[in-house]
Amino acid sequence: MTLATAEALDAVDPLAHYRGQFAQPEGVIYLDGNSLGQLPLATVAATHELVTQAWGERLIRSWNEGWIDAPQRVGAMVAPLIGADANEVIAADSTSVNLYKLIVAALRIDPSRNVVLSEAGNFPTDLHVAEGAVAAVPGAQLRVVERGDLAGALGDDTALLMLTHVHYKTAERFDMATWTKAAQDAGALMCWDLSHSVGAVAVELNAAGADMAVGCGYKYLNGGPGAPAFLYVAKRWQDRLHNPLSGWMGHAAPFEFADGYEAAPGMKRWLTGTPSVLGLCALESGLALWDGIDLSQIEAKSAALWNIFHAAGIAAGLECITPTDPVERGSHISFRHPHAYEIVQAMIARGVIGDFRDPDILRFGLTPMTLSHVDVWRAGQILGEIIEHGEWQKPQFAIRNAVT
Ligand SMILES: Cc1ncc(COP(=O)(O)O)c(C=O)c1O
Repeated sequence: MTLATAEALDAVDPLAHYRGQFAQPEGVIYLDGNSLGQLPLATVAATHELVTQAWGERLIRSWNEGWIDAPQRVGAMVAPLIGADANEVIAADSTSVNLYKLIVAALRIDPSRNVVLSEAGNFPTDLHVAEGAVAAVPGAQLRVVERGDLAGALGDDTALLMLTHVHYKTAERFDMATWTKAAQDAGALMCWDLSHSVGAVAVELNAAGADMAVGCGYKYLNGGPGAPAFLYVAKRWQDRLHNPLSGWMGHAAPFEFADGYEAAPGMKRWLTGTPSVLGLCALESGLALWDGIDLSQIEAKSAALWNIFHAAGIAAGLECITPTDPVERGSHISFRHPHAYEIVQAMIARGVIGDFRDPDILRFGLTPMTLSHVDVWRAGQILGEIIEHGEWQKPQFAIRNAVT
């Protein structure tokens, strides 16, 4: 891969115009959009307007001028990116909290099924939340097995198979239709965590027959730090599943101020408390960029960026732990090296921002919307130089930060 080839790819890139719609800090090549997406320029104006006008001037009147429906409106914007209908998705809370709601709801469907099954090495919050959720339902238990043992562990007692579609470390992707069918054939529900897949690959929840899903707003959707997450429940389940965190915003008629809880119809019941309007505003303007986007172009560009950076990593002598077949992965790439932490720090010092995942993983997000092929080519050159010249050996690169 040469600079000229990367330039030629940029010249015909149908997504090239998106890059200029994001803040691009001078001297930075940002390969961490899978962790915290970049700032869309439109978000600066949208949040300023929200703060100065909607909040500053309109004050509480703004609830009736667009705020109260924001969770449904933003959910509907996520829907086409995950192969769902607009009324199957709502934006609320964090991915962790949404998982809790769905796990407990799934466990309450059929008391003869009391096991939540998941994968060892799943993202920690998924397992931690599942541990808390089973503790809240009498008789329920969490079973965590290696990926290769999942199929065999599905059984008559499985209430829910809960998997992360694209693995946060390796970027390995589960085949959504196959695993959804496996769960349902065993009589269980299927819940997908789409945090590393939404905006990275084309997701088809309804085509796969999925039951429920959650995902992050602050990664590929560029909703900003701590952006609201989203939650999907297939239409056929919407009347039968109940939010265990029943709060007034999920009530059928919150402004009747009744003592008793009556769940709202549809997705609104998955709300609990007052929505985070500032967060929803930023997420909405990030999502506006996705309007009408062709996800096959996102996948094709992701694969092209991946090939460029993969070649650079291999040339530098790193071991790649991400599948080489694009249908088996998301849009990040991970390498293994005993001094992964130091190499990532040395790259950050040169302006190439990736991240480190314990114990020895260098992880780089290749976000098709915000990166050019030349960006990724240059980042690959810098990676090669840092390893070739041993730049990472400087003592300052071994100092551990709290967030890695
Ligand atoms: C697979 C997965 N699930 C969940 C989360 C985070 O959830 P929360 O936003 O609740 O912290 C992450 C964050 O990186 C993730 O990778």
